Amino acid sequence: MPKTVLITGCSSGLGLKTALRFAQKGYRVYATMRDITKQDGLMQEAKALKVDLHVLPLDVTEPGSIAACVKQVQAEAGGIDIMVNNAGAGFAKTTEQTTDAEIVWINEVNHLSVVRCTKAVLPGMRGQGNGRIINISSVGGLVGQPFNELYCAAKFAVEGFTEAMASYITPTFGIHFTAVEPGGISTPFTASALNRMGEALKDDDPYKPLFDRYLGGMRKRADTEREQPYQTAEQVAEVIVEVAGMKDPPVRIRTSQWAEELCRLKTQADPDGRRLRDEVVKRFLA
Ligand SMILES: NC(=O)c1ccc[n+]([C@@H]2O[C@H](COP(=O)([O-])OP(=O)(O)OC[C@H]3O[C@@H](n4cnc5c(N)ncnc54)[C@H](OP(=O)(O)O)[C@@H]3O)[C@@H](O)[C@H]2O)c1
Repeated sequence: MPKTVLITGCSSGLGLKTALRFAQKGYRVYATMRDITKQDGLMQEAKALKVDLHVLPLDVTEPGSIAACVKQVQAEAGGIDIMVNNAGAGFAKTTEQTTDAEIVWINEVNHLSVVRCTKAVLPGMRGQGNGRIINISSVGGLVGQPFNELYCAAKFAVEGFTEAMASYITPTFGIHFTAVEPGGISTPFTASALNRMGEALKDDDPYKPLFDRYLGGMRKRADTEREQPYQTAEQVAEVIVEVAGMKDPPVRIRTSQWAEELCRLKTQADPDGRRLRDEVVKRFLA
């Protein structure tokens, strides 16, 4: 019986490639997206690779949409073995420039989405006595970066949620939680985040010179082979599929050497989070 995987945000980028990779590995894949008219790219690639996928609507900011999708997958497939919380959006703006609506949105799409989707699949996974929740975080979930404070705060929240869930649900119910922490991925994500920033910054804005330096640094890193932060979505998808197949998956995992080096000061004592998880279990649940 193939394992069933439900993935959010499969219209483009990492979600799309992750859906294809799981399908190539023989999983039963539910590739979801908030607007299913965007499925053509995914379906064309699936056809070229001769793999099957099921596409369903799921908007991660709408609890009703999440519930309906989970119910349908459970009815069709008999259960969900792996949930990949991938949907998210970049955001590069100063706090001063961010509107209240943007503050709510960036947290809805990057953080509350993960909580809501996890909440929706947990009862079924507990009933099965196993499951995997793979949350797509970022190096921004460990390291605060200029102009990214709202995005980083939302991803830090994803990390905290993942860590806390792993401390008691994994040992009690056999459901594993992993935060995947990529550096840059070559997807539409960065350009759209920077465009939002660019639109908001006027020439006389006091943050403009600093932002120009930030942008210049990003371009330089992208051009310099030695410091190349960008992976392809396929490379990151490969890590996600590997994690899904591990007997004892890590609580956190970086996906590239660049990401590893950026986070080292935070992660060197416990790179995969297992040590801290065991310590927390010992202190709070002994
Ligand atoms: N790209 C990077 O450099 C990078 C680095 C580290 C981590 N990440 C993380 O990787 C994940 C995937 O990003 P990506 O690089 O693949 O970017 P992407 O190509 O922009 O994909 C983002 C996906 O999220 C979807 N999405 C946005 N709002 C949604 C909603 N309300 N409901 C359902 N889906 C929604 C988008 O759908 P629409 O097409 O409908 O907008 C799209 O499918 C994100 O969690 C991101 O934070 C990315």
